[in-house]
Amino acid sequence: MYFFAWVTKNLISAGCYDMIINSFNNDGTGEKTVMRVRHNPKADIAVVESEYVIQDPASKKGHWKEIFGNENPIRIEIGMGKGGFIMEMASQNPDINYIGIERVNTILYKALRKQEEKALKNLYFVAFNADEIETIFDKGEIDRIYLNFSDPWPKDRHASRRLTSPKFLERYDAFLKQGGIIEFKTDNRGLFDYSLEAAIEAGWKTRDVTYDLHNSIYAPGNIMTEYETKFSAMGTPINKTIIYR
Ligand SMILES: C[S@@+](CC[C@H](N)C(=O)[O-])C[C@H]1O[C@@H](n2cnc3c(N)ncnc32)[C@H](O)[C@@H]1O
Repeated sequence: MYFFAWVTKNLISAGCYDMIINSFNNDGTGEKTVMRVRHNPKADIAVVESEYVIQDPASKKGHWKEIFGNENPIRIEIGMGKGGFIMEMASQNPDINYIGIERVNTILYKALRKQEEKALKNLYFVAFNADEIETIFDKGEIDRIYLNFSDPWPKDRHASRRLTSPKFLERYDAFLKQGGIIEFKTDNRGLFDYSLEAAIEAGWKTRDVTYDLHNSIYAPGNIMTEYETKFSAMGTPINKTIIYR
């Protein structure tokens, strides 16, 4: 405890890193490791200036179709990280619009640099903490939500921060269109089991449950995320389900 506080304080004061993210063991026990993200000052500027990052997203509530200039369905990935998954989805599906949401600018910047090269017309990013996601999308505005390798938040007192918690499902309910689904993938079995229960508790349903996606009937067409590539290379099976109402 004191060690982590010391590391945090000293790294920040030395200007080495401005952010420390807690991550946890795959078995959901809550044993703590510290993952540091080196702050890239260029990221903050690029995120504000880029034509691919939508500023003031709350002002776009109910108007996202105008951003894309068409009536195509809109799908979002919350916590997109470096963006490999959503960029590939957007590239393979030009008739679907995508919005990648990421709260850490330094991470979002990695996706942004790829998009600046590819210039996919059906993809935008939002630098935003999903805790208030219902403030940026209107009722029925979103067709599908992707949650890929979401942070597990293993301590009980942090359960409401999990992106699959009943609290978040309530937020999604406000803007996911009727018949819309949530696609959820994770390496973390503890988070996965929790999410299956949380969905039921919140009045949602689950289907297409697999505890080993890559060796399942759901494997064909699966697009790997950066975390998925890393964990499956380590031999960790990937869990997936569809959450729906
Ligand atoms: C473990 S990483 C997974 C990244 C990517 N989805 C993948 O599978 O490679 C989780 C990402 O979600 C982001 N994230 C976590 N909570 C978030 C929130 N409430 N709002 C937006 N982004 C969030 C983190 O900053 C991080 O980049």
